[in-house]
Amino acid sequence: MKVLILEDEGAATARVAGIVARSVRANPAAVLGLATGGTMLPLYRLLRDMHRDEGVSFAQVTTFNLDEYVGLAPEHPGSYHSYMREALFDHIDIDLARTHLPRGDAPDPTAEADAYEALIAGVGGIDLQLLGIGRNGHIGFNEPTSSLGSATRIKTLTTETRAANRQYFADDETTPRYALTMGIGTILAARSCLLLATGAAKADAVARAIEGPVSAACPASALQMHARATLVLDRAAASDLKLTDYYEHVHPGGGESEFD
Ligand code: F6R
Repeated sequence: MKVLILEDEGAATARVAGIVARSVRANPAAVLGLATGGTMLPLYRLLRDMHRDEGVSFAQVTTFNLDEYVGLAPEHPGSYHSYMREALFDHIDIDLARTHLPRGDAPDPTAEADAYEALIAGVGGIDLQLLGIGRNGHIGFNEPTSSLGSATRIKTLTTETRAANRQYFADDETTPRYALTMGIGTILAARSCLLLATGAAKADAVARAIEGPVSAACPASALQMHARATLVLDRAAASDLKLTDYYEHVHPGGGESEFD
């Protein structure tokens, strides 16, 4: 695992934006796995700026989002389809036909999950998978005890995850209870993974993911099994780590190591 510790949220987000831009410049037809949530909003703002000001083009990029709420149509304002359009897709030169999210309103969500998995395989897999992390260690909506080999499927959200998402919905009743999410196996199949965590609320989950045992109790710990996983943290999110001196020795200032 590469653990990059940056001074603050702005620097950590800029570091991730730089890695995404570099990947797209190196491979204009890259397949990107995308995440949603509050952590990604400043990242998508930066990517929009880099598209506008630095000519970073997404014209040939294909995207697959990690997840969508079961029951929500793409047009629902609380859907991740809407989130992605508002946060990123409407502001860059991406071809919408090459953007993919599971359909939350699919009549048969299990068939939708299987079809999504097949679609990812059909384009040859994901080159770079962006990830956030939940306070309980989830990646995508793979809540604790998710199988580390899981594929795209329906997951029941924990009370904690529902409470965190409640702010985006009118009331508790309309806050979704289920999501279609890529599995941990799907995520681990990506050629590289890039996790961004900012803020002290993530410190415990980050420490368990990086320095704890590989365990379904902390789904993000599965990234320890990935040969090319980079975790970009701000100081607050890194504050519970024990081996900080080593990470900073290998990647001073969150930069590349001598051998990268
Ligand atoms: C959503 C997703 C989730 C979020 C996580 C953190 O697509 O993948 O795992 O990344 O819940 O969310 P925020 O950034 O809102 O704390």
